[in-house]
Amino acid sequence: MAYDLMVLGGGPAGYLAAERAAHAGLSVLLVEKRFIGGVCLNEGCIPSKALLYSAKMLEQARHGAAFGVKIPEAALVHVDVLARKEKVVKMLVSGVKAKLKKNGVTVIEAEGMLKGRTAEGYVLVANGTEHIGRNLLIATGSVPILPPITGLAESIASGYALTNREVLSLKEVPATLTVIGGGVIGLEMASYYAAAGSKVTVVEMLERIGGPLDAQIADALLTQLKKKAIAFELGAKVTTIGINGTATVAYEKNGKTETLAGDKVLVSIGRRPFTSDIGLESIGVETERGRIPTDDQGRTNRPGVYAAGDVNGVSMLAHTAYREAEVVVNHLLGKRDRMRYDAIPSVIYTQPEVACVGETSESAAKKGMEVDAVKLPMTYSGRYVAENERGEGFVKVLVEKHSRRMVGVHLIGSYASEIIYGAALMVETEMRVEDVRELVFPHPTVSEVIREAMFEF
Ligand code: NAI
Repeated sequence: MAYDLMVLGGGPAGYLAAERAAHAGLSVLLVEKRFIGGVCLNEGCIPSKALLYSAKMLEQARHGAAFGVKIPEAALVHVDVLARKEKVVKMLVSGVKAKLKKNGVTVIEAEGMLKGRTAEGYVLVANGTEHIGRNLLIATGSVPILPPITGLAESIASGYALTNREVLSLKEVPATLTVIGGGVIGLEMASYYAAAGSKVTVVEMLERIGGPLDAQIADALLTQLKKKAIAFELGAKVTTIGINGTATVAYEKNGKTETLAGDKVLVSIGRRPFTSDIGLESIGVETERGRIPTDDQGRTNRPGVYAAGDVNGVSMLAHTAYREAEVVVNHLLGKRDRMRYDAIPSVIYTQPEVACVGETSESAAKKGMEVDAVKLPMTYSGRYVAENERGEGFVKVLVEKHSRRMVGVHLIGSYASEIIYGAALMVETEMRVEDVRELVFPHPTVSEVIREAMFEF
């Protein structure tokens, strides 16, 4: 029998596509070599959020006195935090498995390899058996970039250097932690381990943290993280990791080579699509610098072969993957849909949280888009003031000059991660300043700063 759809990879793109397609009545096979739920559920988004929430609770407990709550001996017990993280992951993974089962998806937990095409469809080998599918979704995700840093392979093999996987399960809190890369993973893990008691230094190649973040937001985040005793070496490119009882990182800064010794080193310098060793060549799917290019319906260069999630290298975020997966399934079902990337929110779950959607001043300028920007402190919100002592959160809204359409919203401060979807909706639906002014926001909430910003244009 040939399946209507075979899905290779059981992360957010793969499991959601499988679930949705089966729910719509298609026969679906899902093949996953490691964990159902992929990196997001098992070694990324979810476990890191569990750790960061414990760090947030600790911080609140430590600063409780300012709010009339005295907790004299607040302490983080790392092993208990890890145990809770495991429990959270287990619960969510079993939830995904249950949904797949309920919808009638055939799941094989083994490595899958593509092996050409027959008259009936594409061939996928798993557990020594050949499976055939009329359509195929490649959702094999991404892996950490491991650059040509001298000594990196040895440091990883000996347990001194960690990737996103190991850093989430360290049995003990290292006294000192060096984080290579001040991007999303680096900053989130620096936040957790600093709260847990490590002396953390982030070594970042660029002069700023957070990659494509709005520059004012990135500066504010840097200031806040420094206040939490996280040290930063910016404009510092790591070249070597040496192990000699400790892990010594060598980096180039201002033309000089400097060194930094630490107990552990986290390597978080980005991820790359995973497309090797899955037999893509056997079915003629083209790759471009390791990623699988797709059109706005998730189609690759081969008929009936789709790709979604990190593997297409467009926007390596779980929520993008979900939407891409839905677009693919809708296309298979003959429903009109297409993928749009203009209003995809992104969040960094540090304390304070950062959340953004749409254009930054820099990206707008690059596109030749003329924008007006308004920056308002979150202290405009009654709830923010009630809940934050000397909080420095703010919102920055960008509006296209000629149309007065909202094109970007950037937040740093409490609830940013939960507020941003509303802002994404405004950007996605091209709301103008006047449209947002007419909306009623719940009071008192921090989200009101967005509405308030509308009256500054
Ligand atoms: P990233 O791309 O966010 O940041 C990597 C950083 O490493 C960059 O700032 C880069 O300049 C720096 N770098 C590169 N080479 C270097 C060198 N030799 N020395 C010093 N610095 C160097 O990558 P990251 O943090 O590894 O995250 C990977 C992916 O995971 C991202 O695509 C992100 O979207 C996703 N992710 C998303 C999260 C979220 O949405 N909250 C959380 C965690 C990960």
